[in-house]
Amino acid sequence: MPALAPQRILIAGATSAIAEAIARRFVAQSAGGAALRFLLAGRNEARLEAVAADLRVRGAAEVLCFGIDFQDLDRHQALLDQARSAWGGVDLILVAWGSLPDQAAAERDPELARRAWGENATASLAFLGRAAALLDEQGHGQLAVISSVAGDRGRRGNYLYGAAKAAVSTYLQGLRARLHPKGIAVTDLRPGPVDTPMTAHLRKGPLFCSAERAGRLAHAAILRRRDIAYIPGYWRLIMTVIRLLPEGLFKRLNLSA
Ligand SMILES: NC(=O)c1ccc[n+]([C@@H]2O[C@H](COP(=O)([O-])OP(=O)(O)OC[C@H]3O[C@@H](n4cnc5c(N)ncnc54)[C@H](OP(=O)(O)O)[C@@H]3O)[C@@H](O)[C@H]2O)c1
Repeated sequence: MPALAPQRILIAGATSAIAEAIARRFVAQSAGGAALRFLLAGRNEARLEAVAADLRVRGAAEVLCFGIDFQDLDRHQALLDQARSAWGGVDLILVAWGSLPDQAAAERDPELARRAWGENATASLAFLGRAAALLDEQGHGQLAVISSVAGDRGRRGNYLYGAAKAAVSTYLQGLRARLHPKGIAVTDLRPGPVDTPMTAHLRKGPLFCSAERAGRLAHAAILRRRDIAYIPGYWRLIMTVIRLLPEGLFKRLNLSA
């Protein structure tokens, strides 16, 4: 039996521009959002409230907020417990927080590197383990996680970030195989460069896409319960070619994306 569209949605990192676009798309695509319930989690509580107010105005049935810095691993379970106690269960857990470290600075400053790894890898894996346990226990649902094309192959400008995203994607592969027999979907969303606050300092090339477009494509991939979704889809082809390049050639190329 095909799974119903998610109606109880926990967003971890809900102040992300891409996550916000996904949430808006959910509301727009579900008859004004009348049946949709959101639990929005993030560390900037004023911004979280603004995102919540916007979703309410658009018609979401219920929007709850939960203040959390995801580096505080001890708080993860309280967030998941909140979803369970508010709704009895959750249909979709979307994991969206992340940060793009300055590669060169992180090489000079191990504390910066540790924090960037902690935020993008350690905290993500810790949260995913607990989120998977909740879905496993309730026996249904979906996990969708924003990883990145940067995890597909280490490139000279962002390999700390890329290594963290590769860790997340590999972890998701294992989770997917573990949860598949229960009918729980694990969707690895892999955007190319997206124009959001995270990339505000970067020069925008032709391969950049808007947060709205990324959100629309991610929403469609979640509804189709895809395993891996490149966003936009042409990144699947680009990354297939990039992964196939022999290392001897690859190390001579200066690929920026
Ligand atoms: N933009 C791109 O080109 C691109 C490409 C591929 C993948 N991604 C991934 O997409 C996801 C969303 O990023 P975005 O592009 O939408 O950028 P964004 O708008 O800057 O969102 C990143 C969000 O992560 C939150 N965050 C970071 N560390 C956190 C922590 N420790 N605890 C709680 N929240 C934390 C930030 O909160 P604050 O506002 O409080 O800082 C911010 O809301 C990230 O995982 C990113 O790696 C982005």
